[in-house]
Amino acid sequence: MFNVQKIRNDFPILSREVNNKPLVYFDNAATSQTPIQVINCIVDYYSNYNANIHRGVHSLSQEATDKYEQARQKIQKHFNAAHAHEIIFTSGTTDAINLVANGFASLLKKGDEIIVSAMEHHSNIVPWQMIAEKTGAILKVIPMNQEGELLMNVYQELLSEKTKVVFCNHVSNALGTINPIQEIIDMAHKVGAAVLVDGAQAAPHLVADVQALNVDFYTVSAHKICGPTGVGILYGKEDWLKKLPPYQGGGEMIAEVTFEKTTYADLPHKFEAGTPNICGGIAFGAALDYMNAIGFDAIATYENELLQYATEKLLEIEGLKIYGTAKNKTGVISFNIDGLHPYDIGSILDKLGIAVRTGHHCAQPIMDFYKIPGTVRASFSFYNTKEEIDVLVEGVQRAKNMLQ
Ligand code: ALA
Repeated sequence: MFNVQKIRNDFPILSREVNNKPLVYFDNAATSQTPIQVINCIVDYYSNYNANIHRGVHSLSQEATDKYEQARQKIQKHFNAAHAHEIIFTSGTTDAINLVANGFASLLKKGDEIIVSAMEHHSNIVPWQMIAEKTGAILKVIPMNQEGELLMNVYQELLSEKTKVVFCNHVSNALGTINPIQEIIDMAHKVGAAVLVDGAQAAPHLVADVQALNVDFYTVSAHKICGPTGVGILYGKEDWLKKLPPYQGGGEMIAEVTFEKTTYADLPHKFEAGTPNICGGIAFGAALDYMNAIGFDAIATYENELLQYATEKLLEIEGLKIYGTAKNKTGVISFNIDGLHPYDIGSILDKLGIAVRTGHHCAQPIMDFYKIPGTVRASFSFYNTKEEIDVLVEGVQRAKNMLQ
């Protein structure tokens, strides 16, 4: 049974006050909160077995290495990767995308085409623009409609044998749209293109099976799924990871170094130069354990109830418009009120203890599409409640009365 009160007790931060009001945390798409089980895992690491991995003969180093590699296996199992070495630890999704984009710099040539979707986060646009500039490849964009859904017929027309990489988020951070990635992947594969899916906003709400999807690359950040910041993963198919050159040079990623020539370590170490975020990787595994114990089906059902409830209540406010009304979406509501600036609404909500994100959400092309400077974004998690949504709706109404 899904028991939200019991779940809330696991999150110490949820019982604090902000501006003398109980915290209502609706900025989960930016970062999720951390349950005590994950906090304890971090304390345990630094209290009991903090050591560098893969290096020492001593016991602490072995213990840390074992726990780190066990976390990799947990992540492998969660996303159903065929091999643990297909899971590369990174500092997060942005790092993972840059790793792949940088690798493609040596595979792309002038006139090759890269396709990205219109609803990408800047981290999915800028690295590819940089690579396009370097290689002479051309960047093409899958447009979207007013609801915030991709125009798949235009995507079909963009695809050709010139397409080498397709890049799309699984879930839009600004709109919450769940994109039809299976179709996107299958269509790209028909023309022989590789597909990178950014799963940063999907991973907190649903489980991607990378083998069933047949996706070439998939990225995730731990801090969006109850883990710590500064750690994430790149899943890559073994063949692709073998084909891509290393991203960064350094310790841990080599087989042999002489001044004449260096050979690289096997996967995954080829892409893991330097001392990684060891504690972060282990805590990432603990976060997945925590969420799997609740169950992603239960999480999705509950969050969908919150989304429906909040959508209905917010739309009762006169002049409020929601951006992103796709049929298939996660618990993200981006909205504006006629004549009011999102920043002003967000500031008043903060005074009431309500945390939302305001602005362009690192997705300026989406804002340009709707011809708006930004939105107020409330993003829900499985530890939020309908009572908190009532507080938000009251707060938005109050902000409206004050500002108009
Ligand atoms: N990408 C994160 C967000 O959407 C930071 O807020």
